[in-house]
Amino acid sequence: VTGQDGSYLAELLLEKGYEVHGMVRRSSTEKRERIEHLNGNEHFHLHYGDLADSMSIVRLVSTIRPDEIYNLAAMSHVKVSFDTPEYTANADGLGVLRILEAVRLLNLIPKTRIYQASTSELYGLVQEVPQKETTPFYPRSPYAVAKLYGYWITVNYREAYKMHASNGILFNHESPLRGETFVTRKVTRAVSRIALGMQKKVYMGNLSSKRDWGHAKDYVRAMYAILQQDEPSDFVIATGITTTIRDFLKMAFAEIGVEIIFKGENVNEVAVLNYIDEKVFIERVGEAYLDNLRKRIGDEVVGVDPQYFRPTEVDLLIGDATKARTRLGWEPKFDLAA
Ligand code: GDD
Repeated sequence: VTGQDGSYLAELLLEKGYEVHGMVRRSSTEKRERIEHLNGNEHFHLHYGDLADSMSIVRLVSTIRPDEIYNLAAMSHVKVSFDTPEYTANADGLGVLRILEAVRLLNLIPKTRIYQASTSELYGLVQEVPQKETTPFYPRSPYAVAKLYGYWITVNYREAYKMHASNGILFNHESPLRGETFVTRKVTRAVSRIALGMQKKVYMGNLSSKRDWGHAKDYVRAMYAILQQDEPSDFVIATGITTTIRDFLKMAFAEIGVEIIFKGENVNEVAVLNYIDEKVFIERVGEAYLDNLRKRIGDEVVGVDPQYFRPTEVDLLIGDATKARTRLGWEPKFDLAA
């Protein structure tokens, strides 16, 4: 519940009058900023637990006897999964099984509905454009391979035991609460720091990959809608718009009135500061910072560092959410500019 989606979903469910029980993993540096504002809400309860620890899952499911379980717990960073593949398999793959088994063994199948956070990373080396529920999967990272198990074990428990268990195949979803090492926050933070003179340049990985980005707030509404269906099923949640990382950088700088131009190729690709729309810059950032940035026209503000490349990349994601639109009545409310 301490993640981006967990905190937005907790807010949504509290608004709807739910009693919300959130699981928190114990660590020496617990990060709870995203749910701090819910502290003291009498309908919001926190519990220690860990997807890698069956006992804790059984304890929580048996004491809470939930109507709905949203499994948003995961080691969710694709690049990091190459460095921690076994841990990722345990949490993101077997963790799903532990929840499903807990519900089954505690005889809660008739009561408890389960949402599994599946991902567009399952499409990996895409077999079809755009990707929809019937598109074959081709995972490209230890993270995606673990999530593949999570997806199919959810389908299997639904079919084998008639569980109300569903997958949301969510494409990238972002917000101000997104972790700072994911590309959108990395870029928006860097643009701010460059504008304020706190940083000279940002080093990126693959600038050519394309993502279908939505807003996390829209996406937690879809999770909720999926569990309100009479019949469990799997749904793609996406905007249908795809953008390169390169264009995302351009758009982020444009927000503060700065135009950047890309030059060079591969590891030698850079972006230079080309032009400042001073009116926009003053409005968005402040006059005090303008002189400093003016001196930087012609400077490189974006570079490439191969340390951010992934051994196998997912080049293109673009989702077709027709099923969600028609069956759930789901529409994204935010667009990229919001
Ligand atoms: N993080 C990061 N940092 N990504 C970069 C960088 C960089 O410096 N430079 C380029 N990229 C590219 C990545 O190679 C990738 O193609 C794209 O930016 C998006 O990377 P992330 O924001 O890290 O997200 P992701 O697409 O790998 O995965 C996210 O979305 C999935 C849904 O499709 C995660 O939230 C996953 O958990 C989620 O399943």
